Amino acid sequence: MIDVELRGIMKKFQSNVVVQNFNLQVEQGEFISFLGPSGCGKTTTLNMIAGFLDPDGGDLLIKGQRMNGVPPYKRELGMVFQTYSLFPHMTVAENIAYGLKLRKVNKQEMQERVNRVLGLVKLPNVADRYPKQLSGGQRQRIAIARALVIEPSLLLLDEPLSNLDAKLREELRDELKRLHHEIGVTTIFVTHDQEEALALSDRIVVMNHGFVEQIGTPLEIYNQPASEFVHTFIGKTNRLEGEVIGMDGDVLTLRTTGGMLVKAAKQQRTVALHEKVIIFIRPEKIKLTDTAVSEEANRVKGYLQLASFLGSYTECEVKVGEHTLSAKVQMTDSSVDRQEGQTVYCQWNADDVLVMPAGRG
Ligand SMILES: Nc1ncnc2c1ncn2[C@@H]1O[C@H](COP(=O)(O)OP(=O)(O)OP(=O)(O)O)[C@@H](O)[C@H]1O
Ligand SMILES: [Mg+2]
Repeated sequence: MIDVELRGIMKKFQSNVVVQNFNLQVEQGEFISFLGPSGCGKTTTLNMIAGFLDPDGGDLLIKGQRMNGVPPYKRELGMVFQTYSLFPHMTVAENIAYGLKLRKVNKQEMQERVNRVLGLVKLPNVADRYPKQLSGGQRQRIAIARALVIEPSLLLLDEPLSNLDAKLREELRDELKRLHHEIGVTTIFVTHDQEEALALSDRIVVMNHGFVEQIGTPLEIYNQPASEFVHTFIGKTNRLEGEVIGMDGDVLTLRTTGGMLVKAAKQQRTVALHEKVIIFIRPEKIKLTDTAVSEEANRVKGYLQLASFLGSYTECEVKVGEHTLSAKVQMTDSSVDRQEGQTVYCQWNADDVLVMPAGRG
């Protein structure tokens, strides 16, 4: 069943179009993320789904009903904003019960439901405290509890974790995931953090300048990006420019502008012989070895220019001719201590090379 549908949604402020031709169907129970850089239209789109803004074009449907012009309180949504939006003069319990009061739920049921959601967000003992007596992470949990207590048909979260420090953010991210497994409410989550989107989502909508660049599962977005923007936004990558100089069955031979030869396996997007291309290789796909013996289709000699030890892995920069390749070396395969200035061989598989036609997006 489709819970939410956006059909050709457009939004402009004065003459400035900030969301364009947005099409999406959200299945019941799905966890969808809107991911994109600041200003790309994530909050604007979420606010149209919530009813705080009305689209200037297209149709918005919730459970099959056209919702254009319907005010937020008639949409049965739970919403959590980026900034803490608890009422400071009310206790936690009063904050959470607020939406139930508006809905004239009786006292006993109200108390039960408040206690239940406090249990869900793992804060059973703070009902009588005021927001200022809670930590930032606790406040965001209460904001989530307040959104959940009305048993919304749809949960909308606008960067609920971005004001928290890194460790807490990760902790609360896992909590959100657990909560979603537990109650299964259809959720739309806005973030500009690709890790958050990858970790949480059934599907991700990657946005750029008001446009949808790609909609797909985290694996699809990571491994089969529809555009250079999607590939580079979703994680670190090595980007080389070059040309297709050979095609042998399913294997492409590419020559970079720096004269390096790269073998690439058959691509999703077809490229022609002699076509100018952009070549991407993720740092975690590059292995460093001390010998020229290679199991992989690609092997180049270089010297280690920079090695940054980052705990679970070492980030290495290897100078290969006029290129600098970035490699992420996991501790498991770095029994040897990498020294800067060392000669190393970079190896990678033909399957791990992504090739896109240059100038075709
Ligand atoms: N009320 C408004 N009036 C005019 N322009 C607006 C208004 N609200 C948003 N915009 C513009 O619309 C564009 C999209 O804004 P939006 O808030 O949706 O971005 P966002 O993707 O949520 O970004 P962020 O990650 O920074 O929150 C921006 O260029 C913004 O300046
Ligand atoms: Mg925003």
